[in-house]
Amino acid sequence: MSHPKNQPGAPEQHDSLSEQPAAGARSRVERLTADLERHNYLYHTLDAPEISDDLYDALFHELQTLERLYPRLRSGYSPTLRVGGGLLDGLTKKNHSRRMYGLENVFSGAELRNFLARMRRVLPEAPLLFWCDPKLDGLALEIIYENGVLTEALTRGDGASGEMVTDAVRTIQTVPLRLAGAGPFPELLEVRGEVIIFKKDFAALNERQEALGRKQFANPRNAAAGAVRQLNIAVAESRPLRFLAYSLGSVIWSPAPASGRQHDVMERLATWGFLTPPEGKLCAGVGEVETYADFVRERRPQFTMEIDGIVIKQDSLEAQEALGFTARAPRFAVAYKFPASQVETLLRRIDVQTGRTGVLTPVAVLEPVSVGGVMVSRATLHNEDEICRRDVREGDTVIVQRAGDVIPEVVGPVPGKRRAGSRAYVFPHVCPACGETAHRETGEAAWRCGNLSCPAVRLLRVVHFVSKAGLDIQGIGQKRIGQFVGAGIVQSPADLFVLTVEALLHFERMGEILAKKIVSAFDEARLSATLPRLISALGIRHVGGQTARLLAGRYRTLDELGRADAETLQSLPDVGPEVAASIRNFFDSPTNRALLVRFRELGLWPQGATSASGENALRGKSVLFTGSLSLPRARALELAEAAGAVPASSMSKKLDYLVVGEKPGGKLAKADSLGVAVLDETAFMALLASAGL
Ligand code: IVH
Repeated sequence: MSHPKNQPGAPEQHDSLSEQPAAGARSRVERLTADLERHNYLYHTLDAPEISDDLYDALFHELQTLERLYPRLRSGYSPTLRVGGGLLDGLTKKNHSRRMYGLENVFSGAELRNFLARMRRVLPEAPLLFWCDPKLDGLALEIIYENGVLTEALTRGDGASGEMVTDAVRTIQTVPLRLAGAGPFPELLEVRGEVIIFKKDFAALNERQEALGRKQFANPRNAAAGAVRQLNIAVAESRPLRFLAYSLGSVIWSPAPASGRQHDVMERLATWGFLTPPEGKLCAGVGEVETYADFVRERRPQFTMEIDGIVIKQDSLEAQEALGFTARAPRFAVAYKFPASQVETLLRRIDVQTGRTGVLTPVAVLEPVSVGGVMVSRATLHNEDEICRRDVREGDTVIVQRAGDVIPEVVGPVPGKRRAGSRAYVFPHVCPACGETAHRETGEAAWRCGNLSCPAVRLLRVVHFVSKAGLDIQGIGQKRIGQFVGAGIVQSPADLFVLTVEALLHFERMGEILAKKIVSAFDEARLSATLPRLISALGIRHVGGQTARLLAGRYRTLDELGRADAETLQSLPDVGPEVAASIRNFFDSPTNRALLVRFRELGLWPQGATSASGENALRGKSVLFTGSLSLPRARALELAEAAGAVPASSMSKKLDYLVVGEKPGGKLAKADSLGVAVLDETAFMALLASAGL
């Protein structure tokens, strides 16, 4: 794709235009903008250019010249904004106005039928009409338009908030900078979709990397995601990115033209100038959905982009609203994933690695091979039992598969291809990092290194602490932490906050600017850490982000959490005996207690949001909705979450509140029998109001 790149070099034209009166210039700028938009769309979105690259460049250059002469004529959607030369200091985070959910996956026709049957159970009147399209494998993005003009773009991030990547997204040629057509346009329109790289563009990109002696990209998705999230906007511009739109976030449009179906949304997106997933289809009934899945699965190699399944969406937007979301995913849509692609390759050897929790994980070191378009050279072998069960041996030809987008795994040896004289693999019972004897508890599959000062465990705990799952300290990764731990200046996460510029200057290729930046990154993280992040950063087994948020909603400080006994912990939703025991174990360890003392001394001691006077009765409480409320279910959930409540996915006696609308169904009776508190809509609204919502 070369056409509208317009770097310097295009002939300077129309010098005399500088003498034009501003009114003439204005109409010329408008004409040029509209023409360039059209040619851009024809070239990049429809793949059907009408003019030569040279002519396009000349028009583009003329517009640039006019805008330079009359800067006030440069509109917020000018095609010249696509030329990104900027450099950002960092990516700013911003909340999505509506959460960007992931999708639940199904892998077989039976699972799909189950999902759709559940949809019908939840909402019997839901029509059996589904909009289906291929599942794209890229980076999910939300692009915001105000009165038809692009104002912001955000990555999905953790679903609640994403990173602002507006400048990079403007360089993507298939993203309209203003909506096409005559309007009227919504006051606010959030378009959601995926940034991808077409297969042929990816191959060319990697060839170019190779010619330049640079590292190849593992797959189109990494190359796309990496480019959008770069601080250097020129990187996004230099990669052949495309944006394909598949759904909407918030829309403010009054009076909204009637468009109650996903199918209409897709048509509307296309008329506004968006590229949409190819081969989308409206399917009536489960049978048609399955036929469509077969069709896409068979045609998968012919698709211009990597796809890993299909997405099935309830076509009625009203039914979508009514079905709403579970804690993780919509109830109105599902991803039907295709079976992983499998290939054969040589298993060179088996390495054993010690992880953050001391678990020894066997890793297959493979002759590099492409699996479903991704180069794979290492794959997991899970644990000792799995290796035995499959009788995988070093030197075997093995089958490797990528199940969806997860880590590749070794399925097993290829029968009949084993070399003569091969020997069964013997799993080592010592830690490869510290040499200490490992142990395996009854009922557990994993061998573990129990050495509290094992260098591998120590390193990975600190790496986890700063990672996205922990305090999310930007610019500090495993490599940097490895240097600090290797030099002995960091042994626990607390040591990070006493690092000095002088101490860092001893490291190779570390100047004063970088050293200061690192020290202030730690300081900033110390001051801005929130309780949920800190709990998650501790790396307590079985306590991920979701549980950390829940705990932070219930306990005000780490001390309070550390004092909770196992029984109290188990009264929380999603906390079973195993999680409770693991939390207790953590706080009972003298080493961990000493760590917390240091955190407090260092001023790394965030307070949870639980209000001391307890006015907000929803914070940290689990809620479930049933029956129809006067507001859409999704909105009710959003409000509950904003008050700090945790949405539950099913009834249990640990549920705090069942919020009951009209025609509640069986859940109400169940709540009574389980002794769960029931709120009607008025009572729920009152609790929201007391939380300031
Ligand atoms: S519709 C409420 N359609 O896959 C979510 N999503 O793995 C509605 N994705 O979060 C999304 N292709 O980012 C939809 N054709 C498609 C898609 C698609 C890829 C993404 C989406 C989703 C993720 C889940």
